[in-house]
Amino acid sequence: ELGGYPHYMLKEIFDQPEAIRNAMRGRLDLEEATAKLGGLNMNPHQLLRIQRIVIVGCGTARHAGIVGEYLIESLAHLPVEVDYASEFRYRNAPLDGETVVFAVSQSGETADTLAAVREAKRKGMRVLGICNQVGSTIARETEGGVYMHAGPEIGVAATKSFTSQVLVFLLLAVLLGRLRYLSARQGKKLIEAIEKLPDQVTSVLSRHKEIRAIAEKYADAEAMLFLGRQFQYGIALEGALKMKEITYIRAEGHPAAELKHGVIALVDERIPSIFLCPQDGVYDKNVSNIAEVKARRGPVIAIASEGDDRIGKLADDVFLIPQCSELLAPILTVVPLQLLAYYTALSLGRDIDKPRNLAKSVTVE
Ligand code: M6R
Repeated sequence: ELGGYPHYMLKEIFDQPEAIRNAMRGRLDLEEATAKLGGLNMNPHQLLRIQRIVIVGCGTARHAGIVGEYLIESLAHLPVEVDYASEFRYRNAPLDGETVVFAVSQSGETADTLAAVREAKRKGMRVLGICNQVGSTIARETEGGVYMHAGPEIGVAATKSFTSQVLVFLLLAVLLGRLRYLSARQGKKLIEAIEKLPDQVTSVLSRHKEIRAIAEKYADAEAMLFLGRQFQYGIALEGALKMKEITYIRAEGHPAAELKHGVIALVDERIPSIFLCPQDGVYDKNVSNIAEVKARRGPVIAIASEGDDRIGKLADDVFLIPQCSELLAPILTVVPLQLLAYYTALSLGRDIDKPRNLAKSVTVE
């Protein structure tokens, strides 16, 4: 079952090229320059009437929702709000008939997410699911949705379900975008780029030893900061969650600009900062933040893009991802962070597939 891998988590990290290939299979329409998501059970007319999207989920699923928020807003210009399922269910959030709620859950059995689904349905909302487990409770109780097709995920730390969820949001953003502002030319360009993702993930994975060396160098860190902006903000949160879940190192994820609003007080030579700074619209802003951290003697690990000749002079350690659109970069930058958490946990001798105090599926409130 483990296929020669020492842990499910590592196997599932390496499953990702296949998992995202499965998530996009049959859903890309190059001719029409759009995505096809028949399981939503909504015709183009109904999709066009959506005025607002609310995404609910817990843990990693919520982080994928945050990346989805930026994707949908930028491609479809629709207002999106992401909430913890546990908060949404007790909040009296004003919703109207033009709002669609997406519940994101790998297992489809998370109690808080299920309760949020039921609350939104009670309010008369159309609720759709983004689930991995076929026939799970959330998949059954929603009016439609999109299956991730990531295959079974056994490791408590979610990995391939995250990249599959982000891919599903990308497809959804293309679909909603093409009904609104996205031209056929832009749609086609995006689809061609999406098709390249599995090979790009494979190329990131082939360089796992570079991440292992970085992980071993910083394994005794007292705490870690994960910083990213825009499309990388959700990845900063996800990187920190992976690190704390399986290594028990205190790890915090923040938008990079929040540093000067408080977070930078933590920085010293024992606390590395992991910056997500691929080539994108906020690259220069990230570079200034890196300089601020270096000025306080904080070690910096940068996840940047191939061809970046500035970052090596600033950061202590650099891992380069293949060049791609900023919209697709989250799927590539999260992989080194999963590996960083994995190899850090390995050098600390942690129980990687079954970290303390955690369960794979949280079916109680
Ligand atoms: O099955 P779900 O996607 O609903 O699970 C949600 C969270 O419990 C889950 O993502 C959790 O945060 C993981 N352990 C993260 O690695």
